[in-house]
Amino acid sequence: MKLFVDTGSIKDIETIAALGILDGVTTNPSLLAKEPGEFHENLKRICNIVKGPVSGEVTATDFAGMIREGHDIAKIDDHMIVKVPLTRDGIRACKALSGEGIRVNVTLCFSSAQALLAAKAGATFVSPFVGRLDDIATNGMELIREIVQIYDNYAFTTEVLVASCRHPIHVVEAAKMGADIATCPPSVIDAMFNHPLTNIGLEKFLKDWEKAHAVKA
Ligand code: E4P
Repeated sequence: MKLFVDTGSIKDIETIAALGILDGVTTNPSLLAKEPGEFHENLKRICNIVKGPVSGEVTATDFAGMIREGHDIAKIDDHMIVKVPLTRDGIRACKALSGEGIRVNVTLCFSSAQALLAAKAGATFVSPFVGRLDDIATNGMELIREIVQIYDNYAFTTEVLVASCRHPIHVVEAAKMGADIATCPPSVIDAMFNHPLTNIGLEKFLKDWEKAHAVKA
């Protein structure tokens, strides 16, 4: 299973990439708007750090605008993935860009019906938002189970990119269901490391080691 970080922060991406467990990056207009600097340049820097798929989203809502922006984004670097929203124009743009060999991530997916359309349009990735579904009292992970099953039934090659992850359980459930990727904010990746028994165990190992060496000395 691949792990992506969902952020526009170059500092956070550098820190997580240095751990050696990062496969890619997802951004969206809200995340990039928070960062200083020009967004094309920021995306280029992110590609140089992660050397894996980096999603950059179009802000146009019409087909022609999405194609124009999609070409611009794809030109930044070979690692760039063009992110389009799951609208009629977005699906049409996905089909056209994918046809040109540009990889597309169809975002803002909230139903299995939408995920089916993304796969049929040749999306490389589909991004179902689990946390935002949970927020409205709908089980986000149930949607992942359905999409994985549907894609398996028909051997669609579109990868299920579990987005809007809010805690490590989302990631673990996604892995159990066979989703391809989870994208998480840095705080969730950080939380995946934590277990009190690891800290307690390490503290004891080191204390015992020091004690034994103090006796010998
Ligand atoms: C996915 O690509 C989105 O950028 C992201 O996961 C949205 O997450 P949020 O619901 O926490 O904003």
